Amino acid sequence: MKRSNRDGSLAVFPGSFDPITNGHLDIVDRGLRLFDRVRMAILVNPDKQPLFTVEERVAIIREAYRGNPRIEVDTFSGLLVDYAQRVGASVIIRGIRAISDFEYEFQMALMNRRLNPQIETVFMMPAESYSYVSSRLVKEVFQLGGRVTDVVPPVVERRLSDKYGTPVRRTPAAPRARRRGRAHQAGGGHEA
Ligand code: PNS
Repeated sequence: MKRSNRDGSLAVFPGSFDPITNGHLDIVDRGLRLFDRVRMAILVNPDKQPLFTVEERVAIIREAYRGNPRIEVDTFSGLLVDYAQRVGASVIIRGIRAISDFEYEFQMALMNRRLNPQIETVFMMPAESYSYVSSRLVKEVFQLGGRVTDVVPPVVERRLSDKYGTPVRRTPAAPRARRRGRAHQAGGGHEA
C-alpha cells in the first residue's frame, strides 16, 4: 500500500479526538505500517460542545507523540475530502471497533467516495483490548471517579484531572474478598 512520492505516502486520520484514547493510538501505529506519515486531523465543529478545546486536543496529541516525525497533527473544517486533497493525502483512515461502528462509517466512506473518487477510505481494527474504548466513555468514567489508566496515554489522564479538578485514580479498587483476606493475613481486621 505504501506509495512513494517525494514526501512519502500520507494518510489522514480524522476525528474529534476529545480526547485521544489508546484505541486511537493503536490505529495510528497500524497506519504507520502502511503509510510513511499519518496526519491526525481534528475536526473544528462549532456545533459540538467538546470537553477539550481544539488547541488542547492538538497539544495533547503532540505530547503523546513527542518526537515522532511520522505523526502529524492538524485541524480542519469543511469537507474532509477537500482537506485530504489539499494536503496531498489520497487515503483516509478510520477505525472500526465493532459492527455497531460499521453502518455509520460505511455511509461516510461511500459519501466521501462520491464526493471525491480519488480518495480511498481504509478501515482498520484496533486491538481487541480497545474494542470497547471510546472518548465518551473515558470522560464519563473519569468524571465519576473511575480509573482510565490503561485506556488512555498518561497525558490524557493528567489533562482530565486538570479539567475536572479531581485526582488521577492510580490503583484499581480491590475486590472485597481479597481485601478481607489481606487484612486477615496481616493479623488485623475482622470478618464483616
Ligand atoms: O471522531 P468522529 O467524531 O467520529 O469523527 C467524525 C469525522 C470528523 C470524521 C466526520 O464528522 C467528518 O469527516 N466531518 C467533516 C465534514 C464532512 O466531510 N462531512 C461529510 C462526511 S461524509
